[in-house]
Amino acid sequence: MDLPQKIFLIGFSGCGKSTVGPLLASRLERVFVDTDILIAGMTGKEISQIFAEEGEDAFREMETEVIRGLIGQTEIPQVVALGGGAFVREENREMIERSGVAVYLECAQDEIIRRLKGHSDRPLLVATPKGNETAAQAAARRINHLLEQRRPFYRLAEVTVSSTRRTPPQVVDEIIRKIERRNAAD
Ligand code: S3P
Repeated sequence: MDLPQKIFLIGFSGCGKSTVGPLLASRLERVFVDTDILIAGMTGKEISQIFAEEGEDAFREMETEVIRGLIGQTEIPQVVALGGGAFVREENREMIERSGVAVYLECAQDEIIRRLKGHSDRPLLVATPKGNETAAQAAARRINHLLEQRRPFYRLAEVTVSSTRRTPPQVVDEIIRKIERRNAAD
């Protein structure tokens, strides 16, 4: 069965995009790309450095340009992992919907918190403890806040697959099943 040229993995940090993505790409014998890695390569800077030196808006512009560039590569079947904020922007969603399929990797909040524990490389997840809060509680509050804001956008994806308490191969199987089912219904 013909799968869409571009499969975009969306969802919050820690939901498994960069683990599931390469596995899905190799199962489908296509290229895997991660927009954060492309942006870092293009600028020669870590994502956190871009946020610190140029701000989030500049990063979002780069992200949109990278998505546009990938979509322009119409002949190359790809699996694309997007940063956790990319699908919030309408312009990005429209481009993605036009050129392929968005797969939302949904993950329970407590699992996201557990997976991201000890990782300090996501500038938007840096949280300063308030009052008697521990650093872990502040991080959990921040993740909860961002998830509440973003869930409505993530849920606009055509395909949703849970990655909670699942192994990457299980997630890959379900993504393929659901995309095939979506294609069959077209
Ligand atoms: C971001 C998530 C990060 C990265 C940047 C912004 C976000 O990617 O794009 O730090 O807005 O949630 P991951 O989702 O791969 O962590």
